Amino acid sequence: MAYSAFRPALFTLDPERAHRLALDAARLYGRLPGRPLSGSAVNLMGLRFPNRLGLAAGFDKNAEAADGLGKLGFGFIEVGTVTPRPQPGQSRPRLFRLPKSGALINRLGFPNHGAAVVARRLRRRRYGGIIGVNIGKNADTPIDAAVDDYILCLRAVYEVADYIAVNVSSPNTASLRDLHRPERLEPLLTALLSERGAISREQQRHVPIVLKISPDLDFDLLKEVAGVALRIPLDGIIATNTTIHRDNSVLTDAGSQVGGLSGAPLHHLSLRAVATLRRLLGPAFPIVGVGGVDSPAKARAMCAAGADLVQLFTGMIYRGPSLVAECVRALRGAGLVAE
Ligand SMILES: Cc1cc2nc3c(=O)[nH]c(=O)nc-3n(C[C@H](O)[C@H](O)[C@H](O)COP(=O)(O)O)c2cc1C
Repeated sequence: MAYSAFRPALFTLDPERAHRLALDAARLYGRLPGRPLSGSAVNLMGLRFPNRLGLAAGFDKNAEAADGLGKLGFGFIEVGTVTPRPQPGQSRPRLFRLPKSGALINRLGFPNHGAAVVARRLRRRRYGGIIGVNIGKNADTPIDAAVDDYILCLRAVYEVADYIAVNVSSPNTASLRDLHRPERLEPLLTALLSERGAISREQQRHVPIVLKISPDLDFDLLKEVAGVALRIPLDGIIATNTTIHRDNSVLTDAGSQVGGLSGAPLHHLSLRAVATLRRLLGPAFPIVGVGGVDSPAKARAMCAAGADLVQLFTGMIYRGPSLVAECVRALRGAGLVAE
């Protein structure tokens, strides 16, 4: 059945319940025999991505359905955010649809099963694409001790991750976004890279570390973040997470809810961040563009702005799973990276 016929019924359900159903369906789908991933492969950060399109973090926080989601055609899937200890997240309701705007607002606050459980699940995966694991800190860990949580996550998931994304940009964990400030960011990333050095010698395997940033940084802060990324040096940047800004386009919907806004109204902010970062970081620095991609044209626009890879989440809620193959096709041959 076409997704557009099925969507009205799905949208009568509470958004989190609908999401649970989608994950369960993807889990079952993952048990069926699959086809090889299509698209043109891209080499980036020492990894071979089967194609340029990925599933953004937060859809499959606990790595429950990676095999099935992979079968939709994604070249990479980012699971998480995981934290060292399992936690329930914020109280419900905490996920809201804005159908007129093609957007979502969430204030989930990293509900997850914990890094160790997610690592165990990933060990059993059959998905042949790239797996990123997005890491964060527990809600009750003081911001001054955040680095300890990220290190614990890094250790727990290193063996099963193809890359690790350091999430400092969720608006739903108090003070998390303060970690963008260079005096906090540089020590955090330095500690993670030093720990990565030790683990990679032990395991004889190098796992790239990328930073996921907010779309709400002003130019000066973005420039400082880019400076840190080049100095460290980091393996890549994912731009962007959700925004706390609300423009008039969302105020007729549930736009006054507190939380991070994703989907169509975010697109121009993410695009601008990607374009600015490309200018600041030069042509070779790996950038993943994410925010409001809900059509093949917007996926291509991310690459035109300077992204090497593209991720999506909210677009799939509104357009359905066929969006994945459409975007994979549109991204064939896009961008500058050698294939
Ligand atoms: C319900 C929901 C949960 C999310 N959870 C996470 C998360 O745990 N970690 C993270 O880095 N980003 C998370 N995100 C942000 C997405 O990964 C993505 O950066 C953002 O939604 C913009 O992309 P989109 O407009 O295609 O959805 C979440 C987004 C949504 C809508």
